[in-house]
Amino acid sequence: MLFKSIFCIFASQIKYALENIHPIFDSILNRQDKERLLKQRSLVVWMVGLSGSGKSTLARAIERDLHEQGHLTQLLDGDNLRTGINNNLGFSEADRNENIRRAAEVSKLFLNCGVISICSFISPTEEIRKNARGIIGDTDFFEVYVNAPFEVCEQRDVKGLYKKARKGELKNFTGLDAPFEAPQHPAVEVRTDQHSLEECRNQILAAIYERIRLS
Ligand code: ADX
Repeated sequence: MLFKSIFCIFASQIKYALENIHPIFDSILNRQDKERLLKQRSLVVWMVGLSGSGKSTLARAIERDLHEQGHLTQLLDGDNLRTGINNNLGFSEADRNENIRRAAEVSKLFLNCGVISICSFISPTEEIRKNARGIIGDTDFFEVYVNAPFEVCEQRDVKGLYKKARKGELKNFTGLDAPFEAPQHPAVEVRTDQHSLEECRNQILAAIYERIRLS
C-alpha cells in the first residue's frame, strides 16, 4: 500500500516534469547554419602514428596554415588532453580506449559547431580507431597516417621516452610492450622519414582543402 502511494506520487511528479519541458531540437541552429557562418565545411582530421612520428608537429603546421587561410580550427593533442579532461587516464588498453572515446566525443562537438578539428593521438589499434570513426561518423572522420618506422622514432626520441621505456622505467610503451597496428586504408599517408615537414604538410593540406570547401 505504502509502496503503491509512493509510486503514484513519483509517477505524477515525472508527468508534471515532462509536461513542463519543451524541447527545442527542431529550432536550434544546426551544423549547416554554423558552416555557412564560418564559410567552411567542418571535418575531423585524425592523425595516427607512433610517439615521435611527427603527428603533433604536423598538426600544428596544418592548423597554422588553415588559420592563415581564414578557417576556424581546434587542435586536440594527446599530451595536452591528458593534462586536462583525460588527466585520470594512463596507458592501459582500457584507458587508451577511454582517452580516444572522449577525444572523439569532443571533436564531434566541434564538428557540429562547424569547426575543423585536428586530432593528434597515437590511437594504436584498429579497434580504437573504429570506435572513434563510429562516434564521429564515416564521412567526417578523415584519417591521416603519420608514418615513420619504430627505429626512426626511437632514434629521434624527442621526449626521451624511448630510452626510459628501453630501461623498463615506462610500461606499456607503444610499439615496444604495447601494440601499434598501422592503419590499412587511411585517407592520406605521409612518410616523415622520407619527406620533409613541408612536403608532408602540403600533402595533407591539399587533401583537407578538397574536403572543407563549402559548395
Ligand atoms: S593513445 O595511445 O591513448 O592514443 P596519446 O596520443 O593520448 O596515446 O598519448 C601519447 C603520448 O603520451 C606520447 O606522445 C608520449 O608523449 C606520452 N606517453 C607517455 N607514456 C606513454 C606510453 N606508455 N606509450 C605511449 N606514449 C606515452
